[in-house]
Amino acid sequence: MTSWVNKLNAYIEQANSSLQKGNRNDASIDMAKASELLFIEAKKTTDSKAKKKIVLQASQLLETSLMLRGEIKSKQLSHDQQNSYKSKIPNQLKHAENFQSAKDNDENEKPEFSRGTTLKFADVAGLEEVKETLMQRVVLPFRFPDKLAFYGLKSGGGMLFYGPPGTGKTLLAKAVAGELGLPFYLIKSSEILSQYYGQSTKNLAELFEQARNESIGACVFFDEIDSIAKKRTDETHGATLQVLTQLLQELDGVNGRSEKIVFLAATNTPWTLDEAILRPPRFCEKCYVPLPDEPARFAMFEIGLKNCPIDPDLDFNNLVIKCNGLSGADIINICERAKLIPFTEAIQTGIDRPVNANDFKKAMQNIKPSVSNELQKKYNNW
Ligand SMILES: Nc1ncnc2c1ncn2[C@@H]1O[C@H](COP(=O)(O)OP(=O)(O)OP(=O)(O)O)[C@@H](O)[C@H]1O
Ligand SMILES: [Mg+2]
Repeated sequence: MTSWVNKLNAYIEQANSSLQKGNRNDASIDMAKASELLFIEAKKTTDSKAKKKIVLQASQLLETSLMLRGEIKSKQLSHDQQNSYKSKIPNQLKHAENFQSAKDNDENEKPEFSRGTTLKFADVAGLEEVKETLMQRVVLPFRFPDKLAFYGLKSGGGMLFYGPPGTGKTLLAKAVAGELGLPFYLIKSSEILSQYYGQSTKNLAELFEQARNESIGACVFFDEIDSIAKKRTDETHGATLQVLTQLLQELDGVNGRSEKIVFLAATNTPWTLDEAILRPPRFCEKCYVPLPDEPARFAMFEIGLKNCPIDPDLDFNNLVIKCNGLSGADIINICERAKLIPFTEAIQTGIDRPVNANDFKKAMQNIKPSVSNELQKKYNNW
């Protein structure tokens, strides 16, 4: 055991033995020392969650100390009361005061999930059918709820994007938020999962609370939803089950109250999802986001080469054909690699030149399609 833990135990034992002898004052001093020791340890701890835990324990010891001295009677203290009691803390606890205020700040600080986005459908190359579906099923219903009701249509229900990596699923979700002018909640589902028991469900609850409190509504997007909504089996871990159950309840809750929240989710492996998540009123609408077709690949090159001087002899049609089977992300990556070649040369020689076919030839070396035929079949069959 580390020396500070030994010391801590010694203080607490002394406090207990003083208490048994009826000496509340001595017990209080030892409790205060134990609390101070913990606050000092908390200060040294870099892991924010561990720090929080230690500060909490230290605060509890401090409260006990004050109770033993008769300064407080109940553990249910208001913030103002805490401040007035803190002013009575003896000198030896000045560290503790610092940590107490650090803790107060920490508790007011909620994780920030949302961000603004100005992205629009026009910024997403290709995917015309997907954009049309999103317009009809998500954007217009959100904008015109009265008309929706007039035609006896129901609002709510989330949209699931599925398809190969790098095809623009995250981009589309952002564009939905941008089209509706809503704050965008980008949730990397794996980041919701915490190694600390109970923390994952707390993270989810905080996320939904924040989204519900947005006055104009919110667009909540669960990226990699498969990491928290995998098919349940006998071997599913208790904590994982807890998160999925809570997610389902939160989705039903929000949908049930028809709050102004748009739910979107994305996955590369839709067949691994738990069926419950795909039933109304959850992510019952599914949208396949495929690899780009020829016109989309052309548009992708336009985006990738925006603001870059281009050799007039560069044959775009040839590039578009060669990039069959590649994703949007792959094409943007190729453009970046190609542009870096004249850039580096220009730095070395001081001579500027446009990006040319040869640069693209080099940039496309070792680039392989990210979707095998087998995987493509799986998407087609789902
Ligand atoms: N349709 C598209 N239009 C414009 N850019 C695109 C498109 N698809 C992909 N890109 C480019 O690729 C990058 C990655 O796209 P995005 O993150 O949306 O892919 P994804 O489908 O969410 O991938 P993953 O499944 O790996 O999460 C984008 O930031 C963008 O630069
Ligand atoms: Mg993504």
